[in-house]
Amino acid sequence: MTIGILTSGGDAPGMNAAVRAVVRTAIVDGMKVKGISRGYSGILDEDIFEMDSLSVADTLTRGGTKLLTARCKEFYLPEYQQKAADILRKNGIEGLVVIGGDGSFRGAQALSRLGIRTIGVPATIDMDIACTEYTIGFDTAINTAMEAIDKIRDTSASHERCCIIEVMGRRAGYIALYSAIASGAEEVLLPETYDNDEERIIAHILENRSKGKRLHMIINAEGVGDSLAMAERIQRRVGIDTRATLLGHIQRGGSPTCKDRVYASMMGAKAEELLRDGKSNRVVAYYHGEYTDFDIEEALAMQKHLPEDMLLISRKLIR
Ligand code: ADP
Ligand code: F6P
Repeated sequence: MTIGILTSGGDAPGMNAAVRAVVRTAIVDGMKVKGISRGYSGILDEDIFEMDSLSVADTLTRGGTKLLTARCKEFYLPEYQQKAADILRKNGIEGLVVIGGDGSFRGAQALSRLGIRTIGVPATIDMDIACTEYTIGFDTAINTAMEAIDKIRDTSASHERCCIIEVMGRRAGYIALYSAIASGAEEVLLPETYDNDEERIIAHILENRSKGKRLHMIINAEGVGDSLAMAERIQRRVGIDTRATLLGHIQRGGSPTCKDRVYASMMGAKAEELLRDGKSNRVVAYYHGEYTDFDIEEALAMQKHLPEDMLLISRKLIR
């Protein structure tokens, strides 16, 4: 049996470790592996090549994705999905591992409806995939964010400033919530809960000042809005020097942490096992403390919410 493998959507540290696990376990189990460059674009461009154990040497510790990734607009259209299925069949690829986020899983679902056995592996720094308690890349991203925020704390404290630090997450506040708890911030703004009440934020800064707090750190998730404009408005209102820092893509790069390497290895190996055992249309997950898998339909229908207990405790700690 020959299987294909690709990475798709936003890259995440640990994707290489997942690819390595698929390739190496497949070889041990007597399967052939073909790599596909640039996600679904690479299928359509027929950028497909054989992989062996050596192809993934020296990749475990590397951030990014050696297979390259892309967002492929054509792939939303049924005619291109059919073309991709035909190309995969022409290349002898019977099963496909898709490493990426929710969007990439919808592409995998389309291929599986066209007879290509597909398995999704959850990888996104946003951690916004409902069927799994962990997504590859999150731990590295939050540690990068935390280290950067600690540095901003030093300089902001020295100048007795307010600072707004914008972390990634358009629709999901996991990076913001974790990094705010980990860095001892005074405020966290999450896309899921932000009520646009800037007056409350201003009153909070002034109240903390009056109590003698000299530093005020606000962690703002990307999806909440423009941190630079917010910093200007706050400075005007409270009369305290306020700076905004956008952490940006540094959160997506870097050598994966131990947690990401291990989860990615386990999830990649699980995906290979599912294909080896004849399964299709599944997503690998870490759920209730175990590596498991869900039907793609079921996985995509699930809703993810920020953990209520973390939100409650964060309201007591972040103030
Ligand atoms: P992620 O996988 O990180 O959520 P995207 O949402 O950008 O990232 O999706 C990655 C790629 O998956 C898209 O560029 C597209 O090629 C494919 N894709 C996304 N949604 C669909 C869909 N509904 N149908 C088919 N392919 C899709
Ligand atoms: O989905 C991962 C992510 O890093 C989000 O947190 C962020 O909103 C988005 O991707 C940025 O995408 P791009 O690299 O295309 O700007």
